Amino acid sequence: MEAYIRKKQYNTKTIIQDIELDIEDGTFACVLAPSGVGKTTLMNCLLGRTRFKGWIKNKKERCTAYVEQHLTLNVNEKVCESVFYAVKYSNLKADDSMAWNKTNSILKSMKLLPVKDQLIGSLSGGQQRRVQIAHELSKLTQTVFLDEPDSGLDCATSYHIMSDMREIAHKEKKTFIIISHNALQENLRLYDEVVVLAKNTSEIGSVAYDGSPQKLLKYFKAKSIIDVFDKITESNIDYCLTFQHLTKKEKSNLKVKDMYIDR
Ligand SMILES: Nc1ncnc2c1ncn2[C@@H]1O[C@H](COP(=O)(O)OP(=O)(O)O)[C@@H](O)[C@H]1O
Ligand SMILES: [Mg+2]
Repeated sequence: MEAYIRKKQYNTKTIIQDIELDIEDGTFACVLAPSGVGKTTLMNCLLGRTRFKGWIKNKKERCTAYVEQHLTLNVNEKVCESVFYAVKYSNLKADDSMAWNKTNSILKSMKLLPVKDQLIGSLSGGQQRRVQIAHELSKLTQTVFLDEPDSGLDCATSYHIMSDMREIAHKEKKTFIIISHNALQENLRLYDEVVVLAKNTSEIGSVAYDGSPQKLLKYFKAKSIIDVFDKITESNIDYCLTFQHLTKKEKSNLKVKDMYIDR
């Protein structure tokens, strides 16, 4: 996933700007920011749900899988049938035996085989979250976005779900982008890449850090992730990075009208 959001405005207010993402296939990544900085806005841009100034390199990425924060499952369906129909829906050309193979492999990777014949309504919160992720894995897309996948889950359940997704990312070369405003230290270590967003002095969301979780605390000279959040919300300090990666020519190209994305 390669994208550059030069600016996203709602009415005349700029919400986010100068956000570059260059996330390699098979990366288990996290976008971390306090509430209100513009995480959902960024996701909506990357998903092509809203107009912005900038570009997404591979436009196919616009039809991307997205796990909503709230559950959107039919509680009266069996787990295996629910995932099977999601597979069929995503790939209309697949015959039933192909679709069942794919269903079983998704159920296995999300550790749902032991409950495959249960009704979704009878599952625990963590298992229901797994079914929801399984639905998104059925889509033939490279990137899966998840908005707060650990909301409402206990720390161990959340950690195990995250580890399983990390494994799928690496094994199947799928890219996971996890949106989070509340990262446990243990979960943070699972990510290959962490992008921290913060508001700059003009109250516009931008990138404050993009790198490995191991270097994150040191970069902010912080003791914990709470410390990092305290620092990036201090209004008198601007932690946002200016956009330095693009060549002059690429920067001037950003002004070209056809690079605006619309849908
Ligand atoms: N559709 C919209 N119209 C106007 N303002 C919006 C809209 N969506 C979000 N915003 C504003 O953008 C800012 C960032 O919101 P959001 O992207 O939801 O942040 P986060 O997901 O990080 O909590 C907020 O100030 C919010 O009020
Ligand atoms: Mg949000």
